Amino acid sequence: MKNRVDIGPADGRIGVLLVGLGAVSTTFIAGVHAIRRGIAPPIGSLTQMGTIRLGKRTEGRSPLIKDFVPLASPDQLVFAGWDIFDDNCYEAARTAGVLEHSVLAEVRPELEAIRPWPAVFDRRYVKRLDGPNVKRGPTKRDLADQVIGDIRRFKAEHRLDRLVMIWCGSTEVFMTEAETHQTVEALEGALEENDASIPSSMVYAYAAIKEGIPYANAAPNLSADIPALIELASRNDVPIAGKDLKTGQTLIKTIIAPGLKARLLGVNGWYSTNILGNRDGEVLDDPESFKTKEESKKSVLDYILQPSLYPDLYGNICHVVRINYYPPRGDNKEGWDNIDLVGWLGYPMQLKINFLCRDSILAAPIVLDLVLFLDLAKRAGMSGIQEWLSFYFKSPMHAPGLYPEHDLFIQLMKLKNTLRFMRGEELITHLGLEYYD
Ligand SMILES: NC(=O)c1ccc[n+]([C@@H]2O[C@H](COP(=O)([O-])OP(=O)(O)OC[C@H]3O[C@@H](n4cnc5c(N)ncnc54)[C@H](O)[C@@H]3O)[C@@H](O)[C@H]2O)c1
Repeated sequence: MKNRVDIGPADGRIGVLLVGLGAVSTTFIAGVHAIRRGIAPPIGSLTQMGTIRLGKRTEGRSPLIKDFVPLASPDQLVFAGWDIFDDNCYEAARTAGVLEHSVLAEVRPELEAIRPWPAVFDRRYVKRLDGPNVKRGPTKRDLADQVIGDIRRFKAEHRLDRLVMIWCGSTEVFMTEAETHQTVEALEGALEENDASIPSSMVYAYAAIKEGIPYANAAPNLSADIPALIELASRNDVPIAGKDLKTGQTLIKTIIAPGLKARLLGVNGWYSTNILGNRDGEVLDDPESFKTKEESKKSVLDYILQPSLYPDLYGNICHVVRINYYPPRGDNKEGWDNIDLVGWLGYPMQLKINFLCRDSILAAPIVLDLVLFLDLAKRAGMSGIQEWLSFYFKSPMHAPGLYPEHDLFIQLMKLKNTLRFMRGEELITHLGLEYYD
C-alpha cells in the first residue's frame, strides 16, 4: 500500500451556500431533506450509492465510496443562499415546479425556514431577469464584503465547522478573460473600481475563495475560471471546480461519442435541439446568455472526437446546438439528437435520440456530490482546480496548456483513482496481465 493522504475528520456541521435558489437548488435541498427522512433514495449520487473496486478483481473488495473515504453525511448539511427574489425556499420550489406537491409538503417546514439573503445582481449580466431582493453598495468590493458578512453571520448563528459555496444562479452573458482577470491584485483593483469586467458570479466566487471556502460553478459563465481566482484559490488552500453541470443532452453526448470513436465510426453531423420551459430556459432565450451555454455545449465533441488526430472520421463534422424556450414543458426538457454516422466503405447511417428528461432531477445529485467531495478535498489539503471532479461538468476547468477531458468514462476513472490515491490504495490501470501469469 502506498502513502495515504492525511484527511481531517468529516464530523461537524457543514454550511451549504447556494447562490440562486431556483430549480436546481430547491430540488437539491428538498431532496436532501426527503432522503434524511427516508422518503426517497439518493438516486444519481455517486457519494451515496456508488461503489469503488479496490485491488484485484479476484479480491472481491468493492466498498461503498462513502465507506471508503471519510465523507460527511447529508445529515450534517445546513442550507442557506442568495436570490434576487425574496420567496422562501418552499415558495421558490413551488415556482420552479420540479417536485410534486406531495413531496414538498413533507419537507415544507425545513424549506420555509430558508429565506434568501439579498443578492449581488446586475441586469447587465442577466438581461431577462429582475427582482427586488438585491444588495446596494458603492463598489463591487463593498458587495463582496457584504457577502462575506452574510457568510460569517450564518457560520456563527448555526455553529458551523465548514462551508461550501455553489453557484446555481442564472447563466450570465458571454464574457471572455480580460486584463483585470489576470492577477489577484488586478481583480481587487477592478472590484474597487466597479469595473464592468466583473460580473456578479465573480463577486461571490471572490468572497468564497477569500474566506477559504470551496467553490463550484454549476453554470457555464466564467465566475472562478480566471487566473486571478485560480491563484487566490491556491494561495488560500481552496479547492474549486466548474463549469456547467453535465446533465441532459450533453451527458448523453459524452456517453455516446466516446463509444462511436472507440469503434472508429465517422460522424458527419450532430444536430441537437431541445425544448425547455423553466426560468433557466427563459434566461437562455437571451442570445447573450445562450452564447455562454452554446460554447459550453459545443466544445464537448471536439475534445472527445479529436478531429485533428482523425481528420477522415471527424474533420468535417457539422455540430449544431439549439435550445428553444417553450413554457408549457417547465423543467421537463425534451431533447432530440440526430447523428449522421459513416461506416465501412463510407456507408451512411443515422442514430436518433429522443430524451425526455427532467433537468433539475439530473442536476440535484450532482450538487450533493460536489458539496461532499469539495468538503473532502478541503480536508485533504487539495487546492486550486479539482480536475478529478470533471466528471460532473460540461466545460471542466483545467490547467493552462492542457486540454480538458470530456469522456465520461475517463472522467470516472480519474475520479475513482483520485479516491484510491487519497487512501493509499493501488491505482487501477485495467492492464490485468497478472490474471494470466
Ligand atoms: N438544471 C440543470 O440540469 C442544469 C444543468 C447545467 C447547468 N445548469 C445551470 O445552473 C443554473 C441554475 O439552473 P436552474 O434551472 O436552477 O435555474 P433557475 O432559473 O431556476 O434558478 C436560478 C436562480 O438564480 C437566481 N439568480 C440569478 N442571478 C443571481 C445572482 N446574481 N445572485 C443570486 N441569485 C441569482 C435567479 O433569480 C433564479 O432564482 C443555470 O445557470 C443553469 O444554466 C442547470
